[in-house]
Amino acid sequence: MDIVIVPTAADVATYAADVVADRIAEEPGTVLGVATGSSPVGIYRELARRRAEGSLDLAHLTCFALDEYVGLAPEHPRSYAAYLDREIVRPFGLAPGRVRVPDASRADLEEAAEEYEQSIAAAGGIDLQILGIGTNGHIGFNEPVSSLSSRTRVTALSAQTRTDNARFFDRPQDVPTHCLTQGLGTILEARRVLLVAQGERKAAAVAAAVEGPVAARCPASVLQFHPRATLVLDEDAASGLTLENGHRPVPGRGDGAGQGGSGPAS
Ligand code: F6R
Repeated sequence: MDIVIVPTAADVATYAADVVADRIAEEPGTVLGVATGSSPVGIYRELARRRAEGSLDLAHLTCFALDEYVGLAPEHPRSYAAYLDREIVRPFGLAPGRVRVPDASRADLEEAAEEYEQSIAAAGGIDLQILGIGTNGHIGFNEPVSSLSSRTRVTALSAQTRTDNARFFDRPQDVPTHCLTQGLGTILEARRVLLVAQGERKAAAVAAAVEGPVAARCPASVLQFHPRATLVLDEDAASGLTLENGHRPVPGRGDGAGQGGSGPAS
């Protein structure tokens, strides 16, 4: 894994936006996997800012969400479909069909999961997957102890995740209990993974993912198997790391990850 440690949450957004923008410059039709939640918001706003100033064209992207809550209609303001409409579809200037979200309002959720896997495959797979990490080490909503080779499916949210996500809802009891999420096996098939984490509350999960054993109790640890996973952390999120495997971006360089610096463990 390439570990990039930058001073602040704002630096995480800028660094990660550089990685995404570099990829889009190489391939305007990039297939981007998009996490929701608070972690990637700064990346999306920075990309939208660059588009607004005319330095970045995002119109040819295709995006796939990681997950969607079961029981929230796409129009519900807390659904991930609505989040992506606010943060990506409109600010990126995308045709709505270019952002796909698992259809968690279908009666047959197994069929919806299977179709989602097929639509990712039909798009040629995900080129670059943006991830956040839960305080319990989940990625997507693959909670401890998800199968490390799981595919898109219905899962139950853990009590910790429901508590963590209560901040997005009016009342704790409004947090959905289930979701449709890409599996860990699905995520591992992305050609590149870019996980961002900010704040001390993520420090233990980040340390377990990076320095712990690969284990279902910390689902993000499966990224140790990914050949091209970059973690961009602010100093607080990196504060639980003990090994000297972090490095800072080389000054004046958009994407120093894995190409210089002090040479992260890989
Ligand atoms: C979101 C997702 C989750 C979040 C994680 C962190 O689509 O799949 O894994 O990335 O729960 O959430 P935040 O960023 O809100 O701390």
